[in-house]
Amino acid sequence: MRYEPQSPTRHNARQHHPYQGAPMLALDDFLFRGTLKDIDPAVAELIDHEAARQIRKLILIASESTVPAAVREGLMSVFHNLYAEGYPDPRTRRQTEAEILDYDEQLAYYRRYGDPRYYKGVEYADIIEALARRRCAECFSNGQFDPARIFVNVQPLSGAPANTAVYEALVKPGDTVMGMSLIAGGHLTHGSPVNRSGKHYTIVSYDVDPKTERLDYDQIRELAKAHRPKMIIAGYTSYPFAPDWEKFRAIADEVGAYLLADISHVSGLVIAGAYPSPVGHAHVVTFTTHKTLAGPRGACILTLDESLSKKIDRAVFPGEQGGPHVNTIAALATAFKLAQTEQFKALEHQTVHNSAHLAKVLADEGIRLAYGGTNSHLFVIDCKSIKAQDGTPLMGDVAARILDLAGIVANRNTIPGDA
Ligand SMILES: Cc1ncc(COP(=O)(O)O)c(C=O)c1O
Repeated sequence: MRYEPQSPTRHNARQHHPYQGAPMLALDDFLFRGTLKDIDPAVAELIDHEAARQIRKLILIASESTVPAAVREGLMSVFHNLYAEGYPDPRTRRQTEAEILDYDEQLAYYRRYGDPRYYKGVEYADIIEALARRRCAECFSNGQFDPARIFVNVQPLSGAPANTAVYEALVKPGDTVMGMSLIAGGHLTHGSPVNRSGKHYTIVSYDVDPKTERLDYDQIRELAKAHRPKMIIAGYTSYPFAPDWEKFRAIADEVGAYLLADISHVSGLVIAGAYPSPVGHAHVVTFTTHKTLAGPRGACILTLDESLSKKIDRAVFPGEQGGPHVNTIAALATAFKLAQTEQFKALEHQTVHNSAHLAKVLADEGIRLAYGGTNSHLFVIDCKSIKAQDGTPLMGDVAARILDLAGIVANRNTIPGDA
């Protein structure tokens, strides 16, 4: 018997199409026309469910943000269709936004001199990446640094690849690197044994002081002097207090180490002035762009040192990645524009204020906070301080599941002292 495909034909799809004048469903055409709802109603429905979930629930996950629709428009844009391995012309780093957006000059230059990319057809990709780099530099210039002297790479696909590229640029496999342990609040890429960082480098982990649960700079200094790391990482995933960037730099200088500031969580707060900036203290700064910054999923690396920036660029491409996601870079340019507004600043300050307020209310209820509190957008509850009538302590996993059922979304995390 001949096999008859079950997928809708152009004919019967047209018959069942509910909207007059809407694009025709044509799954038998070699070009796929029609909306997602037309072509794949199952995925369209799942997206609707997820949108409704996000509206219905109170989401308290510190690493998530509701990204403005305008930013997501860039993600959906035709910049998605490009390959653009390489970087825009370095001269654009010294250009202002108006100069970067001067199409006559940019396109004439492109026609005359070409550009350093491996693919052609990138005249607009060059402009969008130059714009994202410039806006990022402006966000971190803080009225103190010339944006033309802040060297930015906007290509890392996410925070982990950004950190991996920095390892590649600054240290060699086997070199000693010092970062906060995962249990105390560091990230996987700060030397966890299950991560590439922990497998390829000699890791010395620092913790918080067991009594105060805060960073102990004397202890960190002693550890650095004993092990003489090539790189020290500060900036955390769940430690809720800002590090003293100046003290970290002094320790790094004392032992001849690079200081990497990983401000993945707090980049939005830093831009808004709600958290101290490591720019000018750290040799290199990395951050994800989808947490407090509320941009697309991605990451940036920045440095004030031009020679380091060249090593970092090479470590990202071709060292770590192939083609950049130009659609993400377009969305990032918009996120950096929004991050310079007064509304964004107010939002970031309000987030820190809300975090402190909720932390206090919970502490007043007798709930213990790991690290003893917060001065940022996040805090961590010590679930062991919540006990059942028979004295059984609450586990973080169970707590997160109960909260989710009650409409509050949170994540479980290790805290200092966990095994
Ligand atoms: C401090 C820190 N660095 C790096 C990352 C990695 O980011 P991504 O998950 O985007 O790879 C995270 C993510 O949680 C983080 O908290």
